[in-house]
Amino acid sequence: MSGVQRVVVSGARPTGRQHLGNYHGALKNWVRLQSEHRCFFFVADWHALTTDYASPGAVLDNTIEMVLDWLAVGLDPARCTIFQQSAVKEHAELFLLLGMLTPVPWLERTPSYKEQRDQLHDRDLSTYGFLGYPVLQAADILMYKAWAVPVGIDQAPHIELTREIARRFNGLYRALFPEPETLLTESPKIVGVDGRKMSKSYNNAVYLTDPPEDVDRKLSRMITDPRRARRTDPGEPNDCPAYTSLHRLYCTPEELRYVEQGCRTAGIGCLECKKIMIKHVLDELAPVRERRARLRPADARDALEAGGAQARLVAAETMAEVREAMGIG
Ligand code: TRP
Ligand code: SF4
Repeated sequence: MSGVQRVVVSGARPTGRQHLGNYHGALKNWVRLQSEHRCFFFVADWHALTTDYASPGAVLDNTIEMVLDWLAVGLDPARCTIFQQSAVKEHAELFLLLGMLTPVPWLERTPSYKEQRDQLHDRDLSTYGFLGYPVLQAADILMYKAWAVPVGIDQAPHIELTREIARRFNGLYRALFPEPETLLTESPKIVGVDGRKMSKSYNNAVYLTDPPEDVDRKLSRMITDPRRARRTDPGEPNDCPAYTSLHRLYCTPEELRYVEQGCRTAGIGCLECKKIMIKHVLDELAPVRERRARLRPADARDALEAGGAQARLVAAETMAEVREAMGIG
């Protein structure tokens, strides 16, 4: 590697308060990356409108709440650029220009397109904006000439499409955009207290800012192996959502051995077993909660303002090159 730092870009839709799934699925990784690379982390507020265009009321509040949690887990505006997508209008311009060269079948083929359009029955997603979701995402990434994009597996097709769009641009005009790598976030699927994927919309999440009593209460009630209906019934940890998701992530090898043995022999009860894991979760969240308690909405706004200014400088340079390459003012 030369002395030049490689660029990393990632974004998240503004979902408000962040939960353990967000933390292990993205944020923890972002915090590590900010000390190794030139990182741009942004709030994809325009992307939120692709599905929530009819009721955009929560987007701004959710943006601030989310960024406060980002700061609380240790994203540092002195080490990475944190901004709001809508504050860098160049994203819209690049989105428009990339749209000129992106074949519609590429977009119709995107797995998330059909899936979500068919799943979210309560709204009409046969919109131009929703079809264009991955083109906007490509603009977000290519704007900063990203070397890599840290995302979960569900986003991998979007990064692949970004590479295809970059290739097409480079072939048509000139080699301007590197093809970004997908940095798959290696994280076990974090399940919520009901055993389904942890998600705000399932109402099963443990939030980073939950008071310790709430964390304890929620996780104490988390579902376990159904075989253990009574305390004396033995169970199988591999069939226990608490174990496969959270114990494995948080407990020491000794604790895991103790728990596995105790579960299979009915030597311990589920509550006792979960308390072992809960202690680690509480320990991890304590410093986050402390930092979060000292943060004010103005801190999030300040970070976004400073980050927006940095992002706009880079975006202006890229757009000058793009316009020149495409031969338009
Ligand atoms: N689509 C991403 C998600 O739903 C959010 C996103 C928008 C993004 N633009 C991006 C992620 C650019 C990485 C890079 O999670
Ligand atoms: Fe899960 Fe532990 Fe209960 Fe076994 S004892 S089912 S591992 S919570």
